[in-house]
Amino acid sequence: MMHRSRFYNGLRLHLGLKRWFLPHPVVSAMLAMLAPRRLRLPTVTLGEFLGTPPPTISFRALYEPEINTPPTDFIPLCTLARGIDARRILEVGTYNGASAINFALACPEAKVTTYDIRPESGELLATAETEVRSQIDRRIANFATEDNRLAVEPPYDFIFIDGDHRLESVRRDSALALRCIRPGGIIAWHDYRHVGSEWLQGLNEVPEALNELAKHHPLRLLCGTTVAVLRIPTN
Ligand SMILES: C[S@@+](CC[C@H](N)C(=O)[O-])C[C@H]1O[C@@H](n2cnc3c(N)ncnc32)[C@H](O)[C@@H]1O
Repeated sequence: MMHRSRFYNGLRLHLGLKRWFLPHPVVSAMLAMLAPRRLRLPTVTLGEFLGTPPPTISFRALYEPEINTPPTDFIPLCTLARGIDARRILEVGTYNGASAINFALACPEAKVTTYDIRPESGELLATAETEVRSQIDRRIANFATEDNRLAVEPPYDFIFIDGDHRLESVRRDSALALRCIRPGGIIAWHDYRHVGSEWLQGLNEVPEALNELAKHHPLRLLCGTTVAVLRIPTN
């Protein structure tokens, strides 16, 4: 009896917490009504975007801590990087290092440069295999102020922007990414979506920034993901 009531209390608490923390479908629907034109990039499948059947990719291990880029976004991102045989990958926003490790695992020929403004970021890199670590160049700096350094480096094949999601930062990071990507390369942005409290607090303005950019570049939303993508023309 004792056990049973503890079980039900636990379950109630669990469901209660979930209600607070998970975006409820009704909340999502209300947000969509409040901003009917917020998410307006046209969608595209991986194959349509690449113009070829997407490659099959495999990971020896997949780093998937709870609050990182989820596999539903991460696997398509790595598939795109492999699809263009990216050898130079740049990431804005290392966080704990999981996404940089996943890029390195999925693209063993690639060098992955990952930026984070916080010196304590990238803690998972210490746990990665030696070859994977040797693929990763970790830079502690504000990406937006790296113009001079990046200008003298060869251009990048694939850039993943997942740093500060506020409007000015996304604008600034995107402008710099456009200057360091090669013709035919891909820029991908994470978190093109409604994120309840983050959006309402002005912490996720990726859609606003990208809708602006889409007036000048053919940005697309990858089907089934929160990832927006742009392929740079070759001519
Ligand atoms: C959403 S997390 C990145 C998650 C990571 N890409 C993943 O999926 O594992 C955002 C990170 O961007 C970093 N950041 C914010 N502004 C930045 C900037 N201007 N330059 C470099 N990093 C920045 C933050 O410190 C934070 O660790």
